[in-house]
Amino acid sequence: MTVSSAPGKVYLFGEHAVVYGEPAVPCAIERRATVTVDAREDDHIRVEARDLSLDGFTVEYAGDTAERPDVDVPEGLVDAAMGYIDAAVEQARDAADAPDAGFDITVESEIPLGAGLGSSAAVVVAGIDAATRELGVELSPADIADRAYRAEYDVQDGQASRADTFCSAIGGAVRVEGDDCRRIEAPNLPFVVGFDGGAGDTGELVAGVRTLREEYDFAADTVESIGDIVRSGEALLADADPDSEPTPELLAELGRLMDFDHGLLEALGVSSRTLDNMVWAAREAGAHGAKLTGAGGGGCIVALDATPETRTALRYTAECRDTFRAELDREGVRAES
Ligand code: PMV
Repeated sequence: MTVSSAPGKVYLFGEHAVVYGEPAVPCAIERRATVTVDAREDDHIRVEARDLSLDGFTVEYAGDTAERPDVDVPEGLVDAAMGYIDAAVEQARDAADAPDAGFDITVESEIPLGAGLGSSAAVVVAGIDAATRELGVELSPADIADRAYRAEYDVQDGQASRADTFCSAIGGAVRVEGDDCRRIEAPNLPFVVGFDGGAGDTGELVAGVRTLREEYDFAADTVESIGDIVRSGEALLADADPDSEPTPELLAELGRLMDFDHGLLEALGVSSRTLDNMVWAAREAGAHGAKLTGAGGGGCIVALDATPETRTALRYTAECRDTFRAELDREGVRAES
């Protein structure tokens, strides 16, 4: 039996603009997906998926993942569900040169699904790591990131940046610009997440920004301005001491950039009333800054705040279903056993 875990992420800055070649800075957070893999004697795949807040499901099928029957996946588990697991299995079989390998797989996740926290990337990264190690192959985190990207790319019909999968595999704060992905140093940023219980449709939201950008020069300029925010934010992080607590000045400046980024994302039409209400609740409670994270449309916001006030305010915000502290996780994919 082999067990691996991988973290989810928040976008400090840069979602959507990253699709057009601007840089983005996602940060891994201390919320993980854990995948347990047991090699089987036959070529069957048996998957049990559990989420801490939802009922799970179990499915077993034979041989080729393309032959899998349709699974009636409970709403909410879609992101962590079969397409991503099949793609991770195919990557592991390919890496180990074992096209007929069969597995019993259990997926458990602490990451709200499809809500901008990179749940699918975490499942794919942990799944590839566990399945390859179970077959006796050790991949580097960079190789896992690359294979996980290819898996997501296939499942999402080419609509995937490297940001989620690279961040989950490598951990910490990362910078992604096209195919250029790097770890960057950052102090321990005090993230607070608010979750409205919903999810946006990433494909639709990305397509909406694309249309706006093609139609209006000022929308294209807005995308470029998000890139400028990312570059300013990166410069702040580069000047900070990663081994000390962030200074109040750093938090104030990063927060201001997060607020600006949220405003531009709102202008591009990817926020929602629930996300905006949570953003304003966090700001009014004294957070340094707050913005949506991920594709938007619904799901999660991220605020910067070391005090409990923001979480308390979010808890009393009608639109907020869950809120939690999410510290920067410097560890990416991890062998649990
Ligand atoms: O909602 P998420 O975590 O899948 O993030 C989507 C981020 C986008 O920039 C909108 C798309 C992408 O692939 O980078």
